Amino acid sequence: MKKLVCLVLALMMSLMCVSALAAEKVGVSMPTKDLQRWNQDGDYLYQKLTEAGYEVDLQFASNDVQQQLNQVTNMINNGCTVIVIAAIEGSSLGSALDLAKEKGVTVIAYDRLLMESDAVSYYATFDNYMVGTKQGTYIKEALDLDNAAGPFALEITAGDPGDNNARYFYQGAIDVLQPYIDAGKLTIKSGQIEFTDVATPTWKTEVAQTRADSILASFYADGSSIDAWLCSNDSTALGVTNALEANYDGEWPIITGQDCDISNVKNMIAGKQAMSVFKDTRTLAAQVVKMVGQILAGETVDVNDTETYDNNKIVVPSFLCEPVFADVNNYAELLLDSGYYTADQLQ
Ligand code: BGC
Repeated sequence: MKKLVCLVLALMMSLMCVSALAAEKVGVSMPTKDLQRWNQDGDYLYQKLTEAGYEVDLQFASNDVQQQLNQVTNMINNGCTVIVIAAIEGSSLGSALDLAKEKGVTVIAYDRLLMESDAVSYYATFDNYMVGTKQGTYIKEALDLDNAAGPFALEITAGDPGDNNARYFYQGAIDVLQPYIDAGKLTIKSGQIEFTDVATPTWKTEVAQTRADSILASFYADGSSIDAWLCSNDSTALGVTNALEANYDGEWPIITGQDCDISNVKNMIAGKQAMSVFKDTRTLAAQVVKMVGQILAGETVDVNDTETYDNNKIVVPSFLCEPVFADVNNYAELLLDSGYYTADQLQ
């Protein structure tokens, strides 16, 4: 009898040990491997969450909404307790989010807000509006719009209408530039200024390039120059740069960007792109790992904005990290000294 009790006790203890060791599963769903930033975000999240002791299911969705929907659904069915999602299209994951809610899985919207759902618990991102104001302010200062007579020629390339961030970037920049457009100091020869006219579906370089090609052919083939081209991010800035290199002979315009992608930093060093906005993926990933820990420990989750991000169902409590402006004068300090890139990567 004694032997039996000992055996049962030993069995119970080993079972307890196994369940104590079984790591919580965290799902990480990234939109695509096509753009440098999502590979970096995915890698950092994987690394930091693994170091924190979680089992991580990291998936990339080839910019295919159905694929992302399937991946997130599988994460839920495979026992993830927290899922971190950077959506391809903010409004397209409804059924997976409903399932998450039903199964008590906590969802964190990563970088891009998940729309039209009350199953989103938190949002971690960079201050998207501030990204746009930094781009607009750069153009304003570089052209000295408060003092110079102008008029200066401006064109605009914005982001993907399916990405909730894109309108914030656009609006942040336009709010800085609109007074100068109204005053006639900035002219937009193409006449394309509304977000829907300047948007770049999928954020793709090639899509931005095709639109820039057609603007150049239609409005600048007479040799007139462009002073600034506001681009919401680096993939679109690259498209605009390619188009200008192929079809434009005038003075090189100020081109803005965002992300500090390697090709764009190289272009900054070569004088082809004036600035980018640095969003240190390490900062965002660290914040999300902290959030995950707080959620799983049942602690209060750190947020610093409870008003801005309304997803049409709820206002999602958010943590906004601060983006930093980068150009040829500070890139070395920002990107090399901090170990974000090695000098070799920028050769
Ligand atoms: C991100 C940007 C990125 C863009 C294209 C946005 O949601 O915030 O950093 O450049 O998507 O991937």
